Amino acid sequence: MKAEREGIEEKERAESLEKMIDAAAHEIRNPLTSIGGFTQRIYKRLSDDDPNKEYAKMVIEDVARLESMIRRIVDLKTMGVLRIEPLNVRNIINDVVEIFAKEAAEKNIKIALEFAENLPDIALDKNKMKAAIANLIKNAIEAMEREHKVIKIAAYISDEHLQITVSDTGKGIPRNKIQYIFDPLFTSKIYGPGLGLTIARRIIQEHRGTISVESEQGKGATFIIMLPLKNSGAI
Ligand SMILES: Nc1ncnc2c1ncn2[C@@H]1O[C@H](COP(=O)(O)OP(=O)(O)OP(=O)(O)O)[C@@H](O)[C@H]1O
Ligand SMILES: [Mg+2]
Repeated sequence: MKAEREGIEEKERAESLEKMIDAAAHEIRNPLTSIGGFTQRIYKRLSDDDPNKEYAKMVIEDVARLESMIRRIVDLKTMGVLRIEPLNVRNIINDVVEIFAKEAAEKNIKIALEFAENLPDIALDKNKMKAAIANLIKNAIEAMEREHKVIKIAAYISDEHLQITVSDTGKGIPRNKIQYIFDPLFTSKIYGPGLGLTIARRIIQEHRGTISVESEQGKGATFIIMLPLKNSGAI
């Protein structure tokens, strides 16, 4: 009964959060468009030596950040339809790593890949799976603060599942925070907004998989994605 009650509470919590996010996105969008638009006009009229030009630029950048946040929230709501095709996660991971290669090199971060041989193709939505993994890599990069900076991404078969792990040698996640990191808008960053893991989890769940995390503060974090091979599965 306890488990059932907790399940219901969890569902209610998720639903009320979703409603709140919906309302906030709706209310914020229109004023944001006018703030951004008018500030652009002011910015263009100011001469380059006007000290206010710098402030106008800051407003424009902040508005762009908020607009991107709202877009991601709305995307989250409209998700649901997968465009499935038989794909190899090896190719997907390689594509995503390529996107981060330059940034990682500049920040002295080594990205190590480890693939089991003969990984089977499985049913995946390519763009969504790329987005999920990209969010994990982005977090890993943002968590790095020590000298030894390594992100390891591995894929192998385990227990009728295709398992993908993304581990980093970053600052790790405090024990009292770990239960909240997949919640929408949970962030420890100045500009959060705390949607990356919510989106990643949603995508993995849509693939009938699970995502979990293990972390020791100060030592890094490991995210584990499990995708079923059977039933929606291996092709
Ligand atoms: N690899 C990691 N190492 C340490 N902390 C992490 C890691 N991944 C996530 N976190 C923690 O979980 C929080 C939520 O992550 P999430 O990706 O959802 O949001 P965000 O990175 O803060 O913002 P966004 O992804 O929307 O830009 C982060 O703010 C951070 O505190
Ligand atoms: Mg993130």
